[in-house]
Amino acid sequence: MTQWIVAEKGLQNIVVDQTALSLVEGQQGILIYRGYHIDEMAKCSFEEVCHLFLCGSLPSSAELDRFDSALKSERIVDSRVLEYIAAAAKADVPMAILRTAVSMLSAKMNLADASNAEALRKNAIALIAKTTTLAAAIARAKKGQPAVQPDPALSHAANFLYMSRGERVDEVVAKTLDTALVLHIDHGFNASTFTARATASTLTDMVSAVLAGIGSLKGPLHGGANTAVMNMLLEIGEPDNVDSFLEKALAEKRKIPGFGHRVYKTLDPRAKHLKQMSEAWGKRVGEVKWFTMSQRLEELMLEKKKLNANVDFYSASTYYAMGIPPDMYTVIFAIARMAGWSAHIMEQLGNNRLIRPEAEYTGPKDLKWVPIEER
Ligand SMILES: CC(C)(COP(=O)(O)OP(=O)(O)OC[C@H]1O[C@@H](n2cnc3c(N)ncnc32)[C@H](O)[C@@H]1OP(=O)(O)O)[C@@H](O)C(=O)NCCC(=O)NCCS
Repeated sequence: MTQWIVAEKGLQNIVVDQTALSLVEGQQGILIYRGYHIDEMAKCSFEEVCHLFLCGSLPSSAELDRFDSALKSERIVDSRVLEYIAAAAKADVPMAILRTAVSMLSAKMNLADASNAEALRKNAIALIAKTTTLAAAIARAKKGQPAVQPDPALSHAANFLYMSRGERVDEVVAKTLDTALVLHIDHGFNASTFTARATASTLTDMVSAVLAGIGSLKGPLHGGANTAVMNMLLEIGEPDNVDSFLEKALAEKRKIPGFGHRVYKTLDPRAKHLKQMSEAWGKRVGEVKWFTMSQRLEELMLEKKKLNANVDFYSASTYYAMGIPPDMYTVIFAIARMAGWSAHIMEQLGNNRLIRPEAEYTGPKDLKWVPIEER
């Protein structure tokens, strides 16, 4: 007889597999990337941390140069994908455009066999580089502007901002985005990563698996929350409105975007860094009100609901101060998480078994079939 184990709804508290990629310690608010504390990782560049995830260790200078060159050599995307982005920009939201554009990449990629780790790593590097080019093209197309070719002299983050804006940005701007990308790379078996792993477990190709991740990340309970946070701040408008807004929203049982977490029962360790960045950026651009409002919301949510801010909360006001349009925030999350998804897909395929749970059937079992003309 099969012994059924009935999981808690939403798979809460269920360990479904092992990973050596990241540890999320919910009670203590600790996040570890392959053995390194997130506070240490925040000192590294996105390229270094990608190397850690995809190659297993932090790189030496020579290894970093090689990895950086490999990423840069994959930045160009097929002009037909850029044409699609330009055509779709008026009608669709950035995450939906990204989903289709990444899917189109597979036509020109040598998709690796699940057993070929080196070829999978090449697919991962291509996806990280090209998704970032697509993301910048989406930002441009949304403003009715043509895509900008990548600049091989620039780092991953600086090049994304250059391709989005059509002009180089200063080091402070590039460093802020670089750190934000590092903070978003990986987070255990979060919804989109688990989705990507489950998809990869059928031995499909890496593009198909990351597309499943993009679809999952788009939702407002996951990556879509950062855009929802900024829309909420804009709806509140002024610091004086925060208290009354929250009182009404909670009375209406609204979920407040950017608060709560399935795993963290204390402050999200990524939020600490983003809060500092939000404050510094508010001061830098001379508009601290979004930070002030965020801080007041954080205080009230802790007091009234005992809920802490998560990664999406202070990233919203940071990106806003940097001049990034709110509907691009989840896309930025996706370009960082592409590194995490692809590392998880490689890990899944390195020791694969089809992910296929059971469901408890609650429907009827003995209905009588009636011919259509008698129904
Ligand atoms: C992240 C999230 C989906 C976790 O969900 P979960 O573990 O399934 O927790 P639940 O949604 O069941 O919430 C548990 C309780 O806390 C409340 N709660 C959780 N997050 C809340 C929020 N952001 N605002 C208001 N109440 C919230 C729920 O209403 C629920 O209360 P109840 O027991 O009285 O019904 C949830 O906290 C949420 O929706 N947050 C807002 C979206 C967000 O920021 N997502 C990004 C996560 S990084």
